[in-house]
Amino acid sequence: MKAQEMFRESVDNKEEFWAAQAENIEWFKKPTQILTNDGENYPTWYTDGELNTCYLALDKHINDGFGDQAAIIYDSPVTSRIIKYTYSEVREKVAKLAGGLQNLGLQKGDTAIVYMPMIPESLFAMLACARLGVTHSVVFGGFAPTELAIRIDDCNPKAIITASSGMEVARRIPYLPFVKEAISLSEHKPEHIVAFDRKLLGNRINHKADGLTDFDKLIAESEPVECVPVESNHPLYILYTSGTTGKPKGVVRDNGGHAVAMKFAIKNIYGANEGETFWAASDIGWAVGHSFSVYAPLINRNTTVIFEGKPIGTPDAGTFWRVIEEHKVSVMFTAPTAIRAIKKEDPEGEFVKKYDLSSLRTQFLAGERCDVATLDWYEEFVGVPAIDHWWQTESGWPMLGLMPGVEDVKIKRASAGKPIPGYDIKIFSEEGYELEAHHEGYLVIKLPLAPGAMTGVWGDPERFKFGYLSRFPGYYFSGDGAIKDEDGYVFVTGRVDDVINVAGHRLSTSEMEEVVSAHKEVAECCVVGIDDDLKGQVPFAIAVLKSGSKADQEQLEKDIVNLVREKIGAVACLKNAMVVNRLPKTRSGKILRKLIRTMLDGKEYQMPSTIDDESIVEELQQMMDLYKKEKI
Ligand code: COA
Ligand code: AMP
Repeated sequence: MKAQEMFRESVDNKEEFWAAQAENIEWFKKPTQILTNDGENYPTWYTDGELNTCYLALDKHINDGFGDQAAIIYDSPVTSRIIKYTYSEVREKVAKLAGGLQNLGLQKGDTAIVYMPMIPESLFAMLACARLGVTHSVVFGGFAPTELAIRIDDCNPKAIITASSGMEVARRIPYLPFVKEAISLSEHKPEHIVAFDRKLLGNRINHKADGLTDFDKLIAESEPVECVPVESNHPLYILYTSGTTGKPKGVVRDNGGHAVAMKFAIKNIYGANEGETFWAASDIGWAVGHSFSVYAPLINRNTTVIFEGKPIGTPDAGTFWRVIEEHKVSVMFTAPTAIRAIKKEDPEGEFVKKYDLSSLRTQFLAGERCDVATLDWYEEFVGVPAIDHWWQTESGWPMLGLMPGVEDVKIKRASAGKPIPGYDIKIFSEEGYELEAHHEGYLVIKLPLAPGAMTGVWGDPERFKFGYLSRFPGYYFSGDGAIKDEDGYVFVTGRVDDVINVAGHRLSTSEMEEVVSAHKEVAECCVVGIDDDLKGQVPFAIAVLKSGSKADQEQLEKDIVNLVREKIGAVACLKNAMVVNRLPKTRSGKILRKLIRTMLDGKEYQMPSTIDDESIVEELQQMMDLYKKEKI
């Protein structure tokens, strides 16, 4: 079946289409109910099926005779290590770790946080949880203790699985002290901290003295356990992502729909064949890492590359190409910002030429809009198709894209492709009417979403309904704007809310505003995402001091930058803060964020008709010009 036929089938004969896809994974109990409407207008998939995701990722392949195939290649330029693990080796570690966690009291229905760097042990931890039916929540290492504490209090983990430290280029990141600080801040206190000692990075852990459980010892001293069957809708994981309000929301993913979707996507969209090497150069703390560094490649019996490094500086702009050559990567996935970083260091593709990239069939890009110049550079120097595709943490797999796994594809530059089977995408006007080709509007998706898409927001059904389902009844509201063309290709124009994408990392400007406003000298503030050549967008804070404040402006600007780094984490990348006298507002008192953003980007703007005081704009422009001249 071609992509368009598949799409039509997935929309017109949903149950038949997804029942057929469900045949491609092994169930402990095959589902008879394919699509169930729970009365809340958000249908769920495969309700009466039973399975285990860890079984599909590991045991099945060993039972099929592929135990000696490499499952994970850990490639760490920051520690000069390459280690390969076969499926049998991974299963042994995971089954024993699961046994150890079970001895600590963890069981189906519990939650556990995984706060770890890009090392194989992080995958062992995720898979051990999945083996027991324990719902894991991986937290990205670039988040500060406060952010970790928020997640601890939201999902109440019985255990936190962590490591002594991570490595950011040449900087050691102290994971364990961050965990301890987070627990001191959180109300909920996990019963166990299981800590992996990265001996080679120094700073050894004294597990006994610190009341920690030793990760390695737990594996060594525990008996392996079998996979626990779970219902299809049992939550495999919670992954927190930024929303329009300050508090991150826990996207919940099921087991059954997710496993079917992973198998479908990696074969049909990414075109990966069993046994090949698949590399998603993302951190496991993000949705891309969950789906395409861990679950999809393992479920599809690929070899997955776990890369602990950066596209540049570890040691140079040739690292990606070295990894592709050395591990014979067939399909690769990264964020455009990574390619932009390489292009900046290697404009003439000198590093690319040094390596044999003949194994590479397709490059996939997502996480943010991909600029045409980056695609051009890729085509000129690497020469394999670079396919832009669009998805969100909420979907867990692509919703727009092309499908080289089923047909030859025609790439339209600047477009993220066409709707993927299961995602009936429309472009709506403000009033909820479908727009014709070439008109920009809201990107919405007719319910039901495909299997694998989020099943809810952890512990907050109201937020789920309010955030995604109530704006256009019967449709999922993505938060992105888009335009369709006459051939059905969709061009994503960017977020229509307070979410920004910094180097492919999703962040909330409202969350940053909450942090900045908490400063004792700040009366009000606004944080917007401005254009950045490398990272796509970066946040910029503008603050107004409380009247009578004697604070030194320069110092306050530095304080704001430090505060955001301390409370949210280095990943927020807020490097610019500017103190002004007044903010432009509407007559009803709303800050004109779009105007501020346009002005900071140096683009032409129109004076909004709703503005309260036009003179503020001129005053602000002068201050911005001065700031840019002196500080950027
Ligand atoms: N743990 C701790 N700190 C981290 C971290 C982690 N896992 N990841 C990033 N950070 C820190 C960085 O060290 C940096 O700190 P600094 O301000 O002290 O330098 C800060 O967070 C910002 O990181 P980043 O935005 O990654 O910037 P960078 O300059 O280090 O690297 C790129 C820039 C483009 C090379 C890098 O962002 C990249 O490779 N991006 C690809 C994105 C990606 O994979 N996205 C996933 C979706 S596909
Ligand atoms: P995340 O949940 O971190 O995957 O971020 C999802 C958001 O990233 C989307 O809502 C988009 O705004 C943006 N995004 C992801 N992929 C693309 C793409 N290919 N083109 C444009 N924006 C993208």
